[in-house]
Amino acid sequence: METLQINEVAPRDGFQSESRFIPTAQKVALIDALTATGIARIEATSFVSPKAIPNLRDAAEVVSAIQRRQGVDVTVLVPNLKGAERALACGVDEINLVMSASDAHGRANLRMTPDESLRQFANIINTVRVRGSGVFINASLSTAFGCPFEGNVPEARVLDLIEQQLALGVEGVTLCDTTGVANPVQVSALCDQVLKRFPGVPFTLHFHNTRGMGLANALAAWQVGITRFDASLGGLGGCPFAPGATGNVCTEDLVHMFEQMGVNTGVNLPALLEASVTLPDLIGHDTPGQVCKAGSADRRHPLPAQA
Ligand code: COA
Ligand code: ZN
Repeated sequence: METLQINEVAPRDGFQSESRFIPTAQKVALIDALTATGIARIEATSFVSPKAIPNLRDAAEVVSAIQRRQGVDVTVLVPNLKGAERALACGVDEINLVMSASDAHGRANLRMTPDESLRQFANIINTVRVRGSGVFINASLSTAFGCPFEGNVPEARVLDLIEQQLALGVEGVTLCDTTGVANPVQVSALCDQVLKRFPGVPFTLHFHNTRGMGLANALAAWQVGITRFDASLGGLGGCPFAPGATGNVCTEDLVHMFEQMGVNTGVNLPALLEASVTLPDLIGHDTPGQVCKAGSADRRHPLPAQA
């Protein structure tokens, strides 16, 4: 059976936009539950300015306290050299450098244009390599399918930015649909291009479900050969600096869809559902996830008792 790699991003993309501070111990408990479900990677937090993202101001404490499990890489979002230094001090497996494909979103989110971000990346990669650290360097490209301020982001621009990232020493690339504007035809076309043009580079797709196209986009990406997906428990998520942004594609809905299709995700759906039904208490509101309310289509996985 084919296998997917799921990167769980709820502790980062999900918690970054929650208004209520989630206590560190509860973040750690959720991450520990998630890393026991069979996911390949967990984006545990971000090392950004605590003024920009107050809910993740405990990034170092979270990374230091979580259980490390064989086969599950711990990655963290990093926007600049200061963030990279903080992340490296905690011993993460991967840093996920973030930049935008569009000037306006780059300025709103990071106070950096794409060119300025690339210069930060060069400094960061240099620092990481000088230290001889074996940390994997991934780069996330926000607004790769469209920008909430500028609209269309040309495919040629995305390809050019990926090329520049790789030339700097970036090892894996995540294409992000930050505000859920991508459609499946566009996704197939871009994914097909990047796989052909950059063979051997691990590409991850990061979809938001803002307009209900998230799962359709994941399917379209998979059909042209993408096997790595970001997803967020309960469908939490959203960039606080992108107008109208809402949650990521929901992990349990994504896993459920692929498992129903006979595609091996490596993830234990009942364990995910058990974690998902704890979210409303943790964050103080309902989540947009669907399978955590309806249960599995084939009733093999009844809903956990708390639901
Ligand atoms: N971690 C912690 N603090 C940081 C930091 C980091 N990675 N980078 C900067 N800071 C602090 C500086 O020390 C400085 O603190 P001070 O005011 O107490 O002196 C302050 O933030 C401003 O620093 P500066 O370098 O001028 O940054 P900036 O104001 O231009 O902001 C970013 C740039 C990237 C740090 C900020 O926009 C940011 O953190 N954005 C994150 C956005 C995000 O996470 N979006 C959602 C995910 S895509
Ligand atoms: Zn996102």
